[in-house]
Amino acid sequence: MVVVLPVSSPQGAQRGQDAQSEEERTHMGLVTGCLGCGVVRLAQTTSTNDVARDLAQRGAADGTLVVASEQSAGRGRRGRIWLAPPGTCLLCSFILRPDLTPAQAPRLTMLAAVSIVRALRAFAVTPVIKWPNDVLINGRKVAGVLTETSLAGDTLDWAIVGMGVNVNIVGAELALLSPQATSLLAETGQAIDLDHLLRLLLAEMDVRYLAMRRDGGQAVFAEWATLLETVGRTVRVDTGDREIAGQAESVGADGALRVRQENGEVIAVTFGDVS
Ligand code: BTN
Repeated sequence: MVVVLPVSSPQGAQRGQDAQSEEERTHMGLVTGCLGCGVVRLAQTTSTNDVARDLAQRGAADGTLVVASEQSAGRGRRGRIWLAPPGTCLLCSFILRPDLTPAQAPRLTMLAAVSIVRALRAFAVTPVIKWPNDVLINGRKVAGVLTETSLAGDTLDWAIVGMGVNVNIVGAELALLSPQATSLLAETGQAIDLDHLLRLLLAEMDVRYLAMRRDGGQAVFAEWATLLETVGRTVRVDTGDREIAGQAESVGADGALRVRQENGEVIAVTFGDVS
């Protein structure tokens, strides 16, 4: 287990930890500008999002990565449990401190989903995004993103962007997880090295995160919108307290899905599950 706690202004005992962080970066072959500047690698934990949140509250630097082989309390969107057989999946969370407004925070989730899609293409698959941020291959879910934010007044203090990618889950185990789930192994017939995938993901995400600092996430939004399989479909969106049915017409810059109901009324939905 390697534990590194990078902080925004390193001093004193921090220097040893920074050396360890550098060692882990070198070991992983990381050449990123920001993401993975510090790496916390755990064999087992409750949830990488929880570890990242704790580190963020203690001042961990922008770009710090937490990655685990196994989670005992992995979390999904809308209070769901996220299950992953030990050692088979990429389970990681980033601490991000972008200069975005709270209203722009959904762009971080878009950044993650787009980066996952781009990284997975290296394995000759064609992933798409199901609104808002599920990554699908051949109609089944291969990855999900859970973003949690902390506000300081009306600004974004930090965000935790957690990602779970089903990599080497075998068919029999997949069936136990969910009938809608798939894995890279199931789709390609190939077992994939988790660190190799992590490096690909970091490279894709780093370049877009740096660009986001310049354009506020405009380019990420545009790319996310082109990867959405949901727009143009007849959909049902379950928001928890209501169901909206109609034609998914477009997405707004805030990430909302615009659904035209049968009566002609267009509703902008900001969260929910699409079927
Ligand atoms: C979803 O699709 O519901 C989001 C799933 C996100 C799962 C990942 S696994 C790593 C990180 N830690 C967690 O507890 N959740 C995210």
